[in-house]
Amino acid sequence: MKRLDGKTALITGAARGIGRAFAEAYVREGARVAIADIDTARAQATASEIGAAAIAVEMDVTSQESIDNAVAKTARALGGIDILINNAALFTAAPVVEIDRAEFARVFEINVAGTLFTLQAVAKYMIQRGGGGKIINMASQAGRRGEPLVAVYCATKAAVISLTQSAGLDLIKHGINVNAISPGVVDGEHWDGVDAFFAKHENKAPGQKKQEVGDAVPFGRMGTAEDLTGMAIFLASAEADYIVAQTYNVDGGQWLN
Ligand SMILES: NC(=O)c1ccc[n+]([C@@H]2O[C@H](COP(=O)([O-])OP(=O)(O)OC[C@H]3O[C@@H](n4cnc5c(N)ncnc54)[C@H](O)[C@@H]3O)[C@@H](O)[C@H]2O)c1
Repeated sequence: MKRLDGKTALITGAARGIGRAFAEAYVREGARVAIADIDTARAQATASEIGAAAIAVEMDVTSQESIDNAVAKTARALGGIDILINNAALFTAAPVVEIDRAEFARVFEINVAGTLFTLQAVAKYMIQRGGGGKIINMASQAGRRGEPLVAVYCATKAAVISLTQSAGLDLIKHGINVNAISPGVVDGEHWDGVDAFFAKHENKAPGQKKQEVGDAVPFGRMGTAEDLTGMAIFLASAEADYIVAQTYNVDGGQWLN
């Protein structure tokens, strides 16, 4: 018996990176998954590489119409939604005096409003269907503490932790568990971009920032997307039924809160 046998999951931003690793891990555990992403070509490619247990769903978390369509399509194609992972997000960085108002709004729209209104749409579906469900939000160590060049992204992830608490406390009466995962530094395409930003703003060689952040992790290296999958499976399983409104660090020992 696998841990997610017969379960269905909608995973936003799953065309690549951590979301893709979650989709692969869920399928290994017996679930069927919707790879929901704004990058539809890549979502299609990812779904076909994963195989018959995965479908691609076009989704832009900044559009309510797109959220509603993705939820309806996933429920129809997979026969329900038992698990949501709110994973889609954008990183942004700038010195405080250079933060651009439009960029601030864009990143809050994806990371905060996107998370809240996807959670809301799936929660409405789960309440109407009955039987509860599991919702996992992707927070970050950036939500635990501000950083000099990362004010906006850090603020969005602090908001995700707060929304996880409020939604978790509100929705548990419907049997819906809302929790979050807080990764540290996870290597992949996302961090390639972060490394390039710091190379420019802190005058570092390409790859230097990654080396430094990896060396600073008590475990001794950056995380991989695969390092996060155990927590994502656990929080989606019946073993996590009594866990409500929590944010778990999976970061190699960086944060102790
Ligand atoms: N990589 C890290 O070090 C790290 C650390 C802490 C937290 N996180 C969080 O983990 C999650 C995944 O990170 P990742 O490194 O895999 O990121 P990533 O940039 O590799 O992947 C993000 C995915 O989201 C999709 N996306 C972007 N905008 C979208 C939109 N409007 N609608 C739908 N999909 C959209 C992208 O197309 C992409 O496939 C994010 O929430 C991120 O903030 C990552």
